[in-house]
Amino acid sequence: MSDPASFYITTPIFYVNDVPHIGHAYTEVAADVLARWHRQAGDDTWLLTGTDEHGQKILRTATANGATPQEWADRLVENEWLPLLKTIDIANNDFIRTTDERHETNVQLFLQRLYDDGFIYAGEYEALYCVGCEEFKPASEIVDGTGEYEGQKVCAIHSKPLELLQEKNYFFRMSDFAERLLDLYESRPDFVQPEAARNEVISFVRQGLADLSISRSSFDWGVKVPWDDTHVVYVWFDALLNYITAVGYGQDEDEFARRWPATHVVGKDILRFHAVIWPAMLMAAGLEVPQKVFGHGWLLVGGEKMSKSKLTGIAPTQITDTFGSDAFRYYFMRAISFGQDGSFSWEDLAARYHAELANGFGNLASRVIAMVARYFDGIVPAAGDYEEADLVVQRVVADAAANADAAIGSLAIHDALAAVWTVVDELNGYITTQEPWVLAKDDAQRARLGTVLYTAAEGLRALAVLLSPVIPASTTKLWTALGAEPALGGLSEQPIRDAGRWGQLPAGTAVTGLEALFPRIDATGTPA
Ligand code: MSP
Repeated sequence: MSDPASFYITTPIFYVNDVPHIGHAYTEVAADVLARWHRQAGDDTWLLTGTDEHGQKILRTATANGATPQEWADRLVENEWLPLLKTIDIANNDFIRTTDERHETNVQLFLQRLYDDGFIYAGEYEALYCVGCEEFKPASEIVDGTGEYEGQKVCAIHSKPLELLQEKNYFFRMSDFAERLLDLYESRPDFVQPEAARNEVISFVRQGLADLSISRSSFDWGVKVPWDDTHVVYVWFDALLNYITAVGYGQDEDEFARRWPATHVVGKDILRFHAVIWPAMLMAAGLEVPQKVFGHGWLLVGGEKMSKSKLTGIAPTQITDTFGSDAFRYYFMRAISFGQDGSFSWEDLAARYHAELANGFGNLASRVIAMVARYFDGIVPAAGDYEEADLVVQRVVADAAANADAAIGSLAIHDALAAVWTVVDELNGYITTQEPWVLAKDDAQRARLGTVLYTAAEGLRALAVLLSPVIPASTTKLWTALGAEPALGGLSEQPIRDAGRWGQLPAGTAVTGLEALFPRIDATGTPA
């Protein structure tokens, strides 16, 4: 057998100036679903996430809170960012902090190589900087302030005044790479996704690229420039390198060769850093560019990009405390086309929770298990001769599995879920039309009843496997209730690309009672 394919996927590393909100959690869940799917398909999978801890923004927040930046970062990572991963059930393989020694040392190594190879020079710089973005702003993102900022230039994204900085900086010769970047976008059309993001990046680079200021000297919270310790490395240059320092760049060449290049999942707000600056840095260092950069949309609350600074931030626990982590994961993956913006509302969340998870899937699972318990003493019956209605179920399952895998391959998570949901709908319709409770009253229909309940139970087996990357907690409960483990092994060991093959659940397995997977929740937010 050939070696399994490598699948290395990353989230952005999050600024520790603030606490996590559902926008951050959204990115995490998407990357985690993709990683879980690939892991269960047998690919050599690695999910990296972490925190971005240097720069002026963190320094200022720490100072305002009477802490050193290192103390502040430690506190936020411990109390907020690591707990977030538990709250939403993220199965990451690694967590990198830009203050890790493995990172700082190899940022210096990378920079020194670029310097030695002539890609870095010293220059004078004067430009408008946004601390919120940690970026010298291009003219297209500088607008006139209004209200309290009347008469000042403000950042188009943060609506806060820009700061005029005048410093001696080191510059990266990014302008040298415009042609090579355009060739890359041309020759690998799926390098930047979705299409709208790709077009935006191409038109940005076509306008020509300026060299990039990559050091700062007016504060010292960062990685020191190796040949000049009066400068620290620009926070974005430092942060982007996490994707390679975390997988062995500079210290473990085998691990690096095994993992790199990565698929980067990022919000569209930071697409340009990942699709322009980052590949240019890698090209300069003679390293492979990423596999793919996917820019997802924003969560909107009340029509605006949700953000803490605009006071529309919602903490993930506000949702998971009531609905649970599975519902959080399902809702955002299902309700929003991955790549588009999506509006969040409590009404929509509650409506989908009840219609799709509680009534659609949860109720199906409970009914089927209860009928096996009642009519067959809890032992999954053998199927007899299949009729057309049963064969339709089998075809729907096979198609759903194939379509979902194809959708995941193109990062269309919402399409994958829609494909799997055809099985939920089909099975619910199947049970309604087959009426097992009627068959149960007639001894002559005993074999038919067995076939119907086997079909339903085997359909649940396929659903548990196909939904496990999205709703791992409740599918694990279902797996246990189906009694599948002794014969088939643990749920996470089930090869997902084989999930559509009919007949895997053996007859004779013993089901156990299943509590409601998604209990109804009343208007006050308490489970009913
Ligand atoms: N530290 C940088 C990223 C460095 S990566 C080398 C950063 N951090 S951040 O804390 O601001 O988080 C940015 C990411 O959080 C966005 O790219 C996006 O993935 C996610 N989101 C933040 N707000 C969001 C929404 N309102 N909606 C969706 N995602 C959002 O930028």
